[in-house]
Amino acid sequence: MDDFAALKRYIEQVLKIQCGNYKEDYIKRRLLSRMRSTNTANYEEYLRYLKANQPELEILRKALTINVTEFFRDSDVYEILKKEVLPDLFKKRKRLRIWCAGCSTGEEPYSIAMILHDMMAADKELSAQIYATDIDKIVLAKAQEGIYSPKAMVKLSETQIHRNFTKLPDGNYQVKPHLKELIRFRPHDLMGGEPIARWLDLITCRNVTIYFTEKQKDDLARQFHSALVSDGYYIMGKTEYLGRQVENLFTPKHSVQKVFVKKE
Ligand SMILES: C[S@@+](CC[C@H](N)C(=O)[O-])C[C@H]1O[C@@H](n2cnc3c(N)ncnc32)[C@H](O)[C@@H]1O
Repeated sequence: MDDFAALKRYIEQVLKIQCGNYKEDYIKRRLLSRMRSTNTANYEEYLRYLKANQPELEILRKALTINVTEFFRDSDVYEILKKEVLPDLFKKRKRLRIWCAGCSTGEEPYSIAMILHDMMAADKELSAQIYATDIDKIVLAKAQEGIYSPKAMVKLSETQIHRNFTKLPDGNYQVKPHLKELIRFRPHDLMGGEPIARWLDLITCRNVTIYFTEKQKDDLARQFHSALVSDGYYIMGKTEYLGRQVENLFTPKHSVQKVFVKKE
């Protein structure tokens, strides 16, 4: 077994991350970045370092999963969006403004767009605009392109695929224009202090803040609070928390799924 294969095997056994789910190039780029940071010269040296330095395991886990996303990730949140949040918002306004912050390769905004498209098809007066942003221009380009492998499509029903994607000759799937038209993809740094827009009805920022300090997370919650309309919704990742200093800014609607409503 070569050194790269040995390192991958260790990652699979210890971190329980299936390297086969990623493109080899992606894994290599992340490993090279960790090798630079740990001053290790090759895969063999890095594996030795990894075995001897427990904290590096968690750092590597974060480095490998930094852009990870999927369609309808944590599907119960999407059920709440579909049955509660979006109908509630559409009752108040016919046109919604949504910000999907830290959207990675686009699966999250496209999932929201699929739900919106179905609602809008049932009531022609409804419309929506999604701003989808990320700091990483490479993932944004992929999001904008909207082409996904069959592996990425496993959570989607046949109806959702048929309605929203075109199968390409190479077996991949391309998002149809009616979804793309709902989304504007833009580069944006959440640590920059300014929101991408204001008067927003809904902000989703899920699984983004793993590298943020407590202060940066609190500042972000304040930024989102200021960017939302008075009864707007904020959805965090399931494992993320509102800090003590900012929990008074929002009312929890669904504590487990981290769905909040802005308090004035
Ligand atoms: C794990 S993905 C989450 C994707 C999606 N929100 C989800 O939950 O499936 C995290 C994304 O946050 C982005 N990100 C990290 N720091 C950021 C920052 N300061 N500003 C904007 N995006 C950031 C990363 O580039 C990455 O694409």
